[in-house]
Amino acid sequence: MPKIALLSPDISRKIAAGEVIERPFSVVKELVENSLDAGAASIRVELAAGGKSLVRVQDDGCGMSREDALLAFERHATSKIHEEADLERISTMGFRGEALASIAAVSRLTLRTSEGGEKAVEVERQGDRLVAVRDVGLARGTTVEVRDLFFNLPARLKFLKSDTSELSQSTKWLTSIACGYFEVAFFLSHGPRLLFNWPRVKTLKERLYQVYGKDLIDRLMDMDYAEAGSRAYGLASRPPIGRADKSQQFFYVNRRPVKDRIMQAALNQAFRPLLEKNQYAEAFLFLTHPFGEVDVNVHPAKAEVRFLDSQAVFRIVLRSIENAVLHEGTIKRIPFIARQGEERVQTLVEEPRPPHLFGDPYARPTTARPPRTESPMEFGASPGGGFKVLGQYLDMYIVAASEEGIFVIDQHNAHEKVLFEKYKEIGQERSWPRKLALIPLLFDLSPSEVLSLDENKELFAASGFRVEEAGGRTYALKEYPDILRDEEAQQIFLSLLAEIKDEQLGGRQDKLLATLACQTAVKAGEPLSRVQMEYLVDELFKLPQQALCPHGRPVLLKMERGQIDRGLRRQSN
Ligand SMILES: Nc1ncnc2c1ncn2[C@@H]1O[C@H](COP(=O)(O)OP(=O)(O)OP(=O)(O)O)[C@@H](O)[C@H]1O
Ligand SMILES: [Mg+2]
Repeated sequence: MPKIALLSPDISRKIAAGEVIERPFSVVKELVENSLDAGAASIRVELAAGGKSLVRVQDDGCGMSREDALLAFERHATSKIHEEADLERISTMGFRGEALASIAAVSRLTLRTSEGGEKAVEVERQGDRLVAVRDVGLARGTTVEVRDLFFNLPARLKFLKSDTSELSQSTKWLTSIACGYFEVAFFLSHGPRLLFNWPRVKTLKERLYQVYGKDLIDRLMDMDYAEAGSRAYGLASRPPIGRADKSQQFFYVNRRPVKDRIMQAALNQAFRPLLEKNQYAEAFLFLTHPFGEVDVNVHPAKAEVRFLDSQAVFRIVLRSIENAVLHEGTIKRIPFIARQGEERVQTLVEEPRPPHLFGDPYARPTTARPPRTESPMEFGASPGGGFKVLGQYLDMYIVAASEEGIFVIDQHNAHEKVLFEKYKEIGQERSWPRKLALIPLLFDLSPSEVLSLDENKELFAASGFRVEEAGGRTYALKEYPDILRDEEAQQIFLSLLAEIKDEQLGGRQDKLLATLACQTAVKAGEPLSRVQMEYLVDELFKLPQQALCPHGRPVLLKMERGQIDRGLRRQSN
């Protein structure tokens, strides 16, 4: 008997659908893209159970005739491209004619649509079967209701996450598309809860104001630069203020939100000399590029694009930022050399500062805790296991030696690892020492950040953060772990929120502690005193394993004694 058999059309349709429709978010994305292509001025999205039980998208776009409404569910049925050459200059969000067919194959779907006038049609489908076609009354536009996603594909259903987690993916994407299409009104609700309702506006800035609030607008600068048929515009951080992570970098190519390595690299390269160390730009960066020079048909969910000339794209993004910075005029380059010099002087004249929570001489001044009496020397004087610190190399590495060989230790990764283990101890044994914000630290959260906060409130509380609503989208950080300096608490909290958003439940506590450890660890480029280095080496080698930091980066290189002896032709003894 042959081993190979053709799959039944039913199975192969489900497999094909699975490529396009992975989770409720994919449904939201495909339907909203269709509404945008239909020229809608207002798009209303209603979800239930994170979109698993219901996704309803209603628009006031061009609608469809009865005939088209039936044809729309055929695979490869599209009004957007007609011939092969069209594929080379796609200006619409959709072009494959696959989305509706795929959604219908794995759900119970109802579509109501009208081109205006009183005539409207309702099409009901269930897992690829046409159930009913009816005449109904409806104003111009289209409403698609998708119920019980994957009801006939249990394998997929199993992989869906919690309602909030699914909801947060849709919210995040809707937020980003709403920034691209500010002239369209967007509405989102989840069950009875209204998540946002943004009327149409005339500029990107007004939309950003609706979504993120005034603080964001105040800290961003405008950018707009055109060259050779392309234009890069939008808003980006006004140096030297950035944020501690890259979570707020949004890229759009011909208004399509994309993940793009070229644009991201250009952005980060342009900002590197302008921002404080370990700070990244926030950016809403739009590229208008000739349709014929962008291939949007490279990713199943159209989340990436490919450029014919990626160097040109890199250049134009870089220049758009340089230009914006020049325009701002007042911005000075950050004098790294001078700053390092100052720090060095400080370290030299410094008296032992109040030690850290655990007697860590990386003196992060804490206000809540009285200085301990013992001298920091106690911690560093006897490096466990006979390690001797030889010195610091390039203000980045600690060079230490033992009988076993010579170690080059990455100071940031090592400190991160040591702190991570310490933070885990507090997490398990007792609650976090926290301090009260003297003035509540106020900040605005985007809808998807609000969801992430709701979902992780207990975890944040257990880690020493108390956050309260302060009206609208404004929140107040009332308490935070006492290892954090007042001026950094808010930023670190926001980057924890950004990092934790996409994490699975089980890994969240560790992820939060790893991020906290990373943010509070000594940075590369900071000169260290001998006491600090000895402390760090001592603590590091007390751990059962030194090789990798909590983010999986290597901590040290070791040159074995035997290797040194052999290399220099000496007999080991
Ligand atoms: N909300 C809508 N308003 C008007 N027409 C629509 C709407 N949604 C779908 N259509 C019509 O149905 C067709 C099929 O939609 P579908 O999303 O399956 O494919 P597509 O958008 O052409 O391509 P892609 O699979 O890349 O999304 C579209 O080409 C369009 O003509
Ligand atoms: Mg489509």
